[in-house]
Amino acid sequence: MSRVRVHNFSISLDGFCTGEGQSLDAPFGHAGGRLHEWFFRTRTFREMHGDSGGGTSVDDAVARTWEAGIGAEIMGRNKFGPQRGPWEDHEWTGWWGANPPFHTPVFVLTHYPRPSLEMEGGTTFHFVDVTPQEALRQAREAAGDLDVRIGGGVATVREFLRLDLVDHVHLAVVPIVLGRGERLWDGLEGLEERFEIESVTTPSGVTHLTLTRR
Ligand SMILES: NC(=O)c1ccc[n+]([C@@H]2O[C@H](COP(=O)([O-])OP(=O)(O)OC[C@H]3O[C@@H](n4cnc5c(N)ncnc54)[C@H](OP(=O)(O)O)[C@@H]3O)[C@@H](O)[C@H]2O)c1
Repeated sequence: MSRVRVHNFSISLDGFCTGEGQSLDAPFGHAGGRLHEWFFRTRTFREMHGDSGGGTSVDDAVARTWEAGIGAEIMGRNKFGPQRGPWEDHEWTGWWGANPPFHTPVFVLTHYPRPSLEMEGGTTFHFVDVTPQEALRQAREAAGDLDVRIGGGVATVREFLRLDLVDHVHLAVVPIVLGRGERLWDGLEGLEERFEIESVTTPSGVTHLTLTRR
């Protein structure tokens, strides 16, 4: 069966994957860009956004694995944008512009469904008010033989891990202390028993952790 994967998920030393106070001007709240500086520098990130340049370091080699073999993504509504509650701005089509970097169906979990959004480049956002298991069923169906990526945000990755629906996780542990925000690990006590865990620290100071289902 296809695998369920998380990639390039940045986490601070104290376990936060986003800061407090997400808004239109601050997608990661008070964390600003600090969780993702390692990623912004990679060629992979720049290519995702149609730019050239960027480093081809070990960080880039790890980051690049996010795309291969993925046929659909699942994300939480707070990753899609800063609005909360009923949609007020239907013009909002995500942070990523007309041609988002996913190029697959993307299932956005939300209690406020709205019509699907077909974007340029093969990305279609489907807004679904369903259990994680049902979202995964729909994503698997859309992905065919390919894998499904859980793209975040934090609550969504945590919930899929809690329900034991994830086969492979790549976390980038960034040497910063955020102090507040959204924590990944809460409620996941003993997670390490389910996964083979490997880590490698790169010259940038980031430690890449992979958790692969035993
Ligand atoms: N560290 C990283 O690498 C990384 C990567 C991606 C994103 N992020 C950051 O993570 C943050 C977003 O994460 P988050 O934890 O705030 O939220 P999130 O996981 O993106 O979304 C949570 C929301 O999704 C909806 N939802 C989740 N499960 C659902 C279900 N089964 N059925 C219906 N709706 C469901 C609910 O929204 P409603 O009830 O409002 O519809 C819920 O409040 C952003 O700041 C983003 O920038 C970080």
